[in-house]
Amino acid sequence: MSIKINNLTHIYNEGTAMAKTAIDDINLEISDGEFIGLIGHTGSGKSTLIQHLNALIKPSRGEILLNGVDINAEKSKLKSIRQRVGLVFQYPEHQLFEMTVYKDVCYGPTNLGLSEVEIDQRAKKALETVGIGEEIYEKSPFELSGGQKRRVAIAGILAMQPDVLILDEPTAGLDPKGRDEILNAIDEMHKRLGIIVILVSHSMEDVARLVDRIIVMHHGKIVVTGTSKEVFGQAKMLESIGLAAPQVSYVMMGLKEKGFNVPQDVYTIDEATEVLYSMLKQVK
Ligand SMILES: Nc1ncnc2c1ncn2[C@@H]1O[C@H](COP(=O)(O)OP(=O)(O)OP(=O)(O)O)[C@@H](O)[C@H]1O
Ligand SMILES: [Mg+2]
Repeated sequence: MSIKINNLTHIYNEGTAMAKTAIDDINLEISDGEFIGLIGHTGSGKSTLIQHLNALIKPSRGEILLNGVDINAEKSKLKSIRQRVGLVFQYPEHQLFEMTVYKDVCYGPTNLGLSEVEIDQRAKKALETVGIGEEIYEKSPFELSGGQKRRVAIAGILAMQPDVLILDEPTAGLDPKGRDEILNAIDEMHKRLGIIVILVSHSMEDVARLVDRIIVMHHGKIVVTGTSKEVFGQAKMLESIGLAAPQVSYVMMGLKEKGFNVPQDVYTIDEATEVLYSMLKQVK
């Protein structure tokens, strides 16, 4: 699956006094299997952009091509687009409603009209991928922890076997344990399924650790896209648009200022630990 966005503009309430340009002439290509991190200050247009990718909202101008096909063309089938591009909203657990975890995850595949065997296989595989064990299948979703609920909600989308999975702030409002559970599940999912994953996040640390490529938005435009090193190397530019490089890179800058010879392109805790550990070994 590949995604191509050509000159996409979205204006809310177009033609009224309330008109608001949320997406401003965006061009973007995403290749098969890429893990993308989408970052940007609040109101920069992240949620508006991703909702175009499964035709939940329509462009004011421009087009979105999935494998070269315009998803808003007359003959495009909405049902098939929504199945291929799975969108996990903020607080997806609010959409859990079945009596048991297992039934909830079966809901989507059941609507696709699949056989019972296929539905069962898909639900179990999806639950396993997000780390939910069989002992939880018959529980009510409402008995679960925040992190568990959210993983069940994600499994419901995964059971549709999408080619693209988009998650809008999947860790919002969770405690550190719940956040780790979700992020590990997402990482595992990307590795196992090889699908395109788009992660919208306010956490620079999480993005630096997980994704292949970062897209930075500001005022409805893409201001920069590249690897963690390419994007977070521009700390001053990020600060000018209300963002920052991951905290740990500021620790490295501080050490350098104090005369320690440490690299300045360190953006994850794991990398920093390695650098500091080998430095300490040399001191001894
Ligand atoms: N339904 C709507 N009607 C009118 N304006 C909207 C609507 N949804 C979003 N906007 C405006 O469009 C702009 C982009 O909003 P959007 O929600 O896409 O940003 P975001 O980057 O997802 O922000 P956040 O980080 O807070 O989730 C903002 O100025 C917002 O106020
Ligand atoms: Mg948003």
